[in-house]
Amino acid sequence: MTAIPGSLDATSMRTHLCGRIGQAEAGNAVRVCGWVAKRREHGEHLAFVDVRDHTGIVQCVIPGTVDVRSEYVIAVEGVVRPRPEGTVNPDLPTGEVEIGDCTVEILGIAEPPPFVVDDRVEVDESIRLKNRFVDLRRPRMQENLRLRAKVNASLRASMDRQGFVEVETPLLWAPTPEGAREFVVPSRLHHGSFYVLPQSPQLAKQLLMVAGFDRYFQIARCMRDEDLRADRQFEFSQLDVEASFVSQEDVLAFVSEAVLSAAEVATGERPDPIPHITWAEAIDRYGTDKPDLRFGMELVDLSAVFDGTEVKAFAAPCVKAMVIEGGADLGRSKLDKLTDRAKALGAKGLAWFRVTEGGGEGSTPGLDSPLDRFLSESERAGLLSATTAAVGDLVLVVADEYRLACTVLGQLRVDIGGRPVSEGPFRYLWVVDFPMFDGVDGDANPIAAHHPFTMPHPDDLDRLESDPASVRSQAYDLVLNGWELGSGSVRIHRGDIQSRVFAVLGISEEEAESRFGFLLGAFRFGAPPHAGFAVGIDRLVAVFAGEESIREVIAFPKTQSGSDPMTGAPKPLAAGLLAEVGLRPAPAKD
Ligand code: AMO
Repeated sequence: MTAIPGSLDATSMRTHLCGRIGQAEAGNAVRVCGWVAKRREHGEHLAFVDVRDHTGIVQCVIPGTVDVRSEYVIAVEGVVRPRPEGTVNPDLPTGEVEIGDCTVEILGIAEPPPFVVDDRVEVDESIRLKNRFVDLRRPRMQENLRLRAKVNASLRASMDRQGFVEVETPLLWAPTPEGAREFVVPSRLHHGSFYVLPQSPQLAKQLLMVAGFDRYFQIARCMRDEDLRADRQFEFSQLDVEASFVSQEDVLAFVSEAVLSAAEVATGERPDPIPHITWAEAIDRYGTDKPDLRFGMELVDLSAVFDGTEVKAFAAPCVKAMVIEGGADLGRSKLDKLTDRAKALGAKGLAWFRVTEGGGEGSTPGLDSPLDRFLSESERAGLLSATTAAVGDLVLVVADEYRLACTVLGQLRVDIGGRPVSEGPFRYLWVVDFPMFDGVDGDANPIAAHHPFTMPHPDDLDRLESDPASVRSQAYDLVLNGWELGSGSVRIHRGDIQSRVFAVLGISEEEAESRFGFLLGAFRFGAPPHAGFAVGIDRLVAVFAGEESIREVIAFPKTQSGSDPMTGAPKPLAAGLLAEVGLRPAPAKD
């Protein structure tokens, strides 16, 4: 059988793909290849075999019997014809036709599959992962990985259009400053020394800027030894970007263009331009640096209302509130659960006020709460007017340090109003002006919020040493429906500023030299101003695919416990192999 010239579907083994056979092919002799999805026999004279490839299923009618079972790999040759009246299957895209008078060639036999290759069958994830090669035959997984390929192709094309050059960087590398635990690789040639698998190409891409590649990108594999979750794997991919002679605004524009183009390819619709919000505003209004804009429930500041209050529970630097529309009918046990949750998040407590009908006709609403009798009349009125809560609503209040009050309510906002990340509409958001430092380490040194090469905000540079907590950085995140999709920053390219930042971080010159000497050394040979970004591709594709876990868009992911049921990795190594790389076996952990 020869391939049809000009048809991408045809090869020397087949003329058509199963799912693409329809009325237009009626009367044509065709040959399809695939897996046996179903077999039915009608006596000794007629057999029906449904053949599946990645495009779908087609029904083949064989005169006589045929010895094939589920998941056998076969080639079928016959003539396409309309199905007899009354046998059309409207649920199948190829359901109006069948291939008749078929001959079957068995290309590969198969043991009974561990589960049926059908999206409608629920299978335990460990069984799916152990038999991933079968799991990936399912239409949903085929679609997900094919969508991922399309997104990658679109990101690549967009970066290419924007003049970016793809450069591959090493996987055997030295530690990078991303802050997660690293995977180490022992060296056979240098016993006792180790490579580190890169958490990202961060330092490599900055070196490429010094090297004059002023627009770099890469679809980069990154490795981080961190706890696995729905949005985290050990191995993941980034659209990694860096550019020279650019400002923050330029980087946001490049990345927006790439992400919105990919969204258009994936969803068929180009999203609106991505709005910006500052980190401070995000915390103030949503209590998080990754706000989900699909719903309101914005936080309201009541500090002025309760300034100098007699209510002990509200005598705190900040009093913050959130309104749950129609929440007044929440019962005591639900409110107690919310209070426990707030406490688990670090709050001292959670105050609640049900907004009720007031006394007389036309009177202002009343409040139903254990705290109500302690409120002054002006506090009661202030609470209602500042929150604009209406009868039937519930007002939750946390009084504490500012940041804690915001983040506790921010988490409750997501607990109560949250929706699956992949549920539309897609609301993208740039969060800019992150703080330079976030908290302090055990030695009371500030911790870099992004990484130590992040450029402080020019307006705050003079407070770097005197008031580091107040210093903003030129770091930014891209957020989608409450997920952090990516991060980046303008980098420090000047030695004097870098030395000051290291000093504030408590990183001595010797330590900086031993950890990042190769980068700092390169900077002494002419470093251009540069800035960059990395988009988490697994997260982006998961949202587009309507999946809540990135495992569903990764061909061979690890389980929550970091193992691969299919290969058995991680595995002990033979003592001889260990010795070769200069290691001795350790007693196995339970
Ligand atoms: P960052 O560490 O914020 O920045 O990572 C960027 C994005 O990568 C994705 N990501 C992950 N995805 C899946 N599993 C993981 N374990 C995981 N860790 C991170 C997220 C995240 O937003 N070098 C800097 C970027 C830069 O400054 O240019 C970096 O890697 O979507």
